Amino acid sequence: TRVAVLFGGRSGEHAISASTAAGVLRAIDRDRYDVVPVGITREGRWVVAADDPERWQIADGRLPEVTADSGAEVVLSLTQGERTLRVLEQGQVPGVLGEVDVVFPLLHGPFGEDGTVQGLLELADVHYVGAGVLASAVGMDKHFMKLVLAGQGLAVGPYAVIRPADWERDREACVAAVRPLGLPLFVKPARAGSSLGITRVDDLAHLPAAVEAAREHDPKVIVEAGIDGREVECAVLGGRDGEKPRASLPGEIVVDHDSHTFYDFEAKYLDEAHVDLRCPADLPQAVIDEVRDVAVRTFEAVGAEGLSRVDVFVTPDQRVVVNEINTMPGFTPFSMYPRMWEASGLSYAELVDELIQLALQ
Ligand code: DAL
Ligand code: MG
Repeated sequence: TRVAVLFGGRSGEHAISASTAAGVLRAIDRDRYDVVPVGITREGRWVVAADDPERWQIADGRLPEVTADSGAEVVLSLTQGERTLRVLEQGQVPGVLGEVDVVFPLLHGPFGEDGTVQGLLELADVHYVGAGVLASAVGMDKHFMKLVLAGQGLAVGPYAVIRPADWERDREACVAAVRPLGLPLFVKPARAGSSLGITRVDDLAHLPAAVEAAREHDPKVIVEAGIDGREVECAVLGGRDGEKPRASLPGEIVVDHDSHTFYDFEAKYLDEAHVDLRCPADLPQAVIDEVRDVAVRTFEAVGAEGLSRVDVFVTPDQRVVVNEINTMPGFTPFSMYPRMWEASGLSYAELVDELIQLALQ
């Protein structure tokens, strides 16, 4: 079976995607799978990438980067109805890199995790790992995600949306609209990940700067009320062909608040010393059961497939409030998604294998 591993991409999570790919390239069973690594530059050019985990991992605070000179340009040949994707290497003499049976789009953020690449793969009629077009798009947009989840009875936190026209027309009105949410607030780009562009606001005077920071990533901004609760995550796997998706044991994120006001980009990827990923989370059995149930219901509510990580808050009175679903969660061996499966009895290599097999169904 030939697998194209797609990574990098046009979003702000380019480097995180590359480090995710490093983990998969290292662990994938080479006796079983032929691997074609394809990197996407920040400009959106697809290139043949080094099959070299060392090259793509985050090391000593250095973020990896796919560049146009990382390898020869890739041309995709979309031959519908064959369920293979021809990957051509464009050089002086174009050569066929491979007929690919399945694509593993290890892409985070817009132009990868948001349904765009999934749409391309649907057009090509090729198998791919993970959620389809709609679930990917809903999972990427925190505004529509909340509408879809709340519409199906899942608890989400209070929020307000600042659309580009609202902000450009009347900032005072936008500030007035978020006032009822109280403080602190979390101001986020509606469509981004890895905490990029997110600011915690403890004083409304700082709201405009926070909105501008979020708008660097997305013209649509979502403002969420801070929720008093423990940050708990749960990994979901499966959900193809009517089979019930499975939930892992939950994990908990404990951030050292003297170093980071919240679980921001640095805390996630560059300063692991000040973050404790507790896996499995130390929670009462009834809460564990509830988190797992909410995770599966969230997965089903957006129509996800393959894999997702559902992030929730467990409030002091033990309510489970959904923060978000990530349809292509961070996936290095140190990331929460694989660690939660590891704690549930499924190794990283087994997980990679299972995801590919699910995609081939
Ligand atoms: N967006 C990052 C990769 C995550 O959800 O893990
Ligand atoms: Mg996210």
